This record gives sequence, C-alpha cells and structure tokens, in this order.
Amino acid sequence: MKLNILVTAGDGIGPEVTNEAVAVLKEVAAIGGHTFAFSEARIGGVAIVQDGTPLPAATLAAALASDAVLLGAVGGNEFNSLAPDKRPEAGLLQIRSALGGFANLRPAFAFKELAVNSPLRPEVIDGADILFVRELLGGLYFGQPREWDKAANEAWNTMRYTKGEVARVARIAFQLATKRRKKLCSVDKANVLEVSQLWRATVNEVAQEFPGIAVEHQYVDAMSMHLMNRPRDFDVVVTENLFGDILTDESGVITGSLGMLPSATIGGKVNLYEPVHGSAPDIAGKGLANPIGAILTAALILRHSADLEAEAAAIEAAVRKVLEQGFRTPDLARGNTQGLTVLSTTQMGAKVRETVKTLLVHA
Ligand code: NAD
Ligand code: IPM
Ligand code: MN
Repeated sequence: MKLNILVTAGDGIGPEVTNEAVAVLKEVAAIGGHTFAFSEARIGGVAIVQDGTPLPAATLAAALASDAVLLGAVGGNEFNSLAPDKRPEAGLLQIRSALGGFANLRPAFAFKELAVNSPLRPEVIDGADILFVRELLGGLYFGQPREWDKAANEAWNTMRYTKGEVARVARIAFQLATKRRKKLCSVDKANVLEVSQLWRATVNEVAQEFPGIAVEHQYVDAMSMHLMNRPRDFDVVVTENLFGDILTDESGVITGSLGMLPSATIGGKVNLYEPVHGSAPDIAGKGLANPIGAILTAALILRHSADLEAEAAAIEAAVRKVLEQGFRTPDLARGNTQGLTVLSTTQMGAKVRETVKTLLVHA
C-alpha cells in the first residue's frame, strides 16, 4: 500500500499532536511493509507569519496532489483582532473548500476506562457510541452575503443551503447508519429557520431511499441537552455546519476530553483528516496536549484512505489498552491521579505506538 500524506501541522499544539499521529503511521507502515510518504506544508498562523497568507498556494497545490491531508490545528491569540478572511482559521476554511469534502465524520464514544474521570455518571455514558456527520461546506460558514459594515454598526452572515447540499450529506449519513445501529437523528432549528425547514424536508425525502433506518429529528437546543442526558440513544447524528461544530465539542464530555476526538472529511477530491480540537494556546509547547484525538485521526486515514481496516482497528484497540492500563494525559486525569500514570504528549504517543506494535506483530 502506497500513500502520500501531506501534513499541515499548523499552530499551537498542532505540531505536537501531529508528530505523534505521524509516528504511529510510520510504525504501522514499517510493520506492514507499506510505503507512506510524508511531506509538510504550512497553514494558519505559521503561514501568515512566514508567507503572508493563511493558505499559501504551495500548500494548496501539495494538498491537491496528495492522497490524504492530515491537519493539526490553526489559530492563535495574536491573530484574534484580524478580520475573518485574514485569520489562521480562514486558511482552514479555504483548504476544506478546495478539497471539496462536505461530510465531516466525527465519531464520539465513551471509553469505559475513562468513566471514573468523566464529569458524567458512568451509567449515563456507558456504551455511548455516536457518529456525528457534520455538513462542512455550507451553512453560516460559507453563506453569502456576509459583512461587518462598520460605518453602519451592523454585521450579517447568511445561513444558506441548497437542497442538493443537504441531500448529499444526508445520503452519506444514511449510508453510514446502515452499517451501524440503523438509527439516524437529524438536528436542526426548524421551529424558527426556513433553512432548517428545507433541511428537514430534504432529510425526510432522502429517508425514503433507506426504509431500514429509523429517523428522528431534534431541535439543536434540545439536542444539546439530550446528548448529556441520554447519549446512548443516538447512533448517527447529521447536522448543519455550525450546529455540528458546537455539538461535537460538547460530545468531548462523553468521550472524556475534547483531546480524544478525531475527524475525517470525505466526499471531495482529497480527504482531509483533523482532530476536532483547536490549537489550545493555553497548553501549547508544554507537553500537556493529549495526542489521542490526532492518533485516532491517523486511524481514520488508514480506514478511509488506505483500506487498512485491521490496522485502523489496531490503533483504536491500542488506545483502549493504554487507557485500561491507567495511562492518562492531564486532561483525562482531571486532577484525579490515584492509581493512574500521567504522561506527557510524547510519552502517550510512545505508549500507544508500542501497544500498536504488540497488537499488529502478534495478530
Ligand atoms: P481549543 O479546542 O483549542 O481548546 C479548548 C480547551 O480544550 C482548552 O482548554 C484546551 O487546552 C483544551 N484542549 C484542546 N485540545 C486539547 C488536547 N489535545 N489535549 C488537552 N487539552 C486540549 O479551542 P479554543 O481555545 O476555543 O480555540 C483556540 C484556537 O484554536 C482558536 O484560534 C480557534 O479558532 C482554533 N481552533 C482551531 C481548530 C482547528 O484548526 N481544527 C479547531 C478548533 C479551534
Ligand atoms: C473545528 C473548528 C473550526 C470550525 C474553526 C477553527 C474554523 O472549530 O474544526 O471544529 O469551526 O469548523
Ligand atoms: Mn470546532
């Protein structure tokens, strides 16, 4: 298996966590005799400083020429006063748009091993396993018109979808549900927004193609509560771009930490892989970042871009095993370190790697 992976590590903890993800992929390649070629390119704040733009043309060209892009995170406090189209985050939105993936898969499941460290009670989260499908190229993030009219002291954005944009992401969500527990929950705000009424009507229309899937609709405000109260009731959850952004950070509470959540964006020219968390400027450069979200993102590369399911599953099993053995990064330990071993970013990466090796060599 040959794979060209472009690594855009970005800002803050981005380089720290992607280093660990790449190291796991190299381990898998060495064991299985695969050729994974890695190249690097700048995006975000680091690109603004060095190239004067958050998405340099060379990065975009390299991304389009690769088989998969692994992104760390972008953003930093020093850029917070810039206009949206000049900020590090603009580089991320531009690369998403250029690569064309519209279905952002964000799995969130409760690790039994982390129950003791979760702010939710074990009996609430035990067995929770949700696959969020976040629409990634439409809605408020990309809708026109958008502007801050400073003279008029007024600003506006537009939440806009075409029926086609909703149907294509809904179809992917339904297809994924057929391989899981056959339940789909669509989240909208159809009691207030026309765009959500179009969303709901379209999801219901696509549902006709999937008679075996049980469909429910929830309003986004209620959904944010249901997720904390009864996360086990949900299987595939499909939703609009901004709603998906918010609900998936919330689902970090089910998984134990925002630092645990991976994502894969499919449906476009080149798949884009990024952990759900951001650049975490508050802990950057201190070895405190949890690399597991990035490492599980590496597993998604193997699953969705390399067809190496056994290797992807081995990474996921290794993560579980390492947690079972009591190893934690500080975000997972939450100050409760009794009986646990707290590791740095690189130590956690090494533990997972070592365990992946044991699992694959003895498989
Ligand atoms: P954040 O996700 O960076 O951090 C939120 C909180 O979670 C912080 O307390 C942070 O320390 C913690 N956290 C996040 N990832 C962690 C990890 N791997 N291990 C341990 N703790 C972790 O969100 P924020 O603070 O709202 O945003 C910081 C910057 O990141 C902003 O510029 C934002 O725009 C950007 N951002 C980028 C991405 C991306 O590039 N994909 C995603 C989200 C936010
Ligand atoms: C995410 C992030 C991004 C988003 C930002 C950094 C543009 O929060 O991937 O969840 O809002 O999509
Ligand atoms: Mn987000």
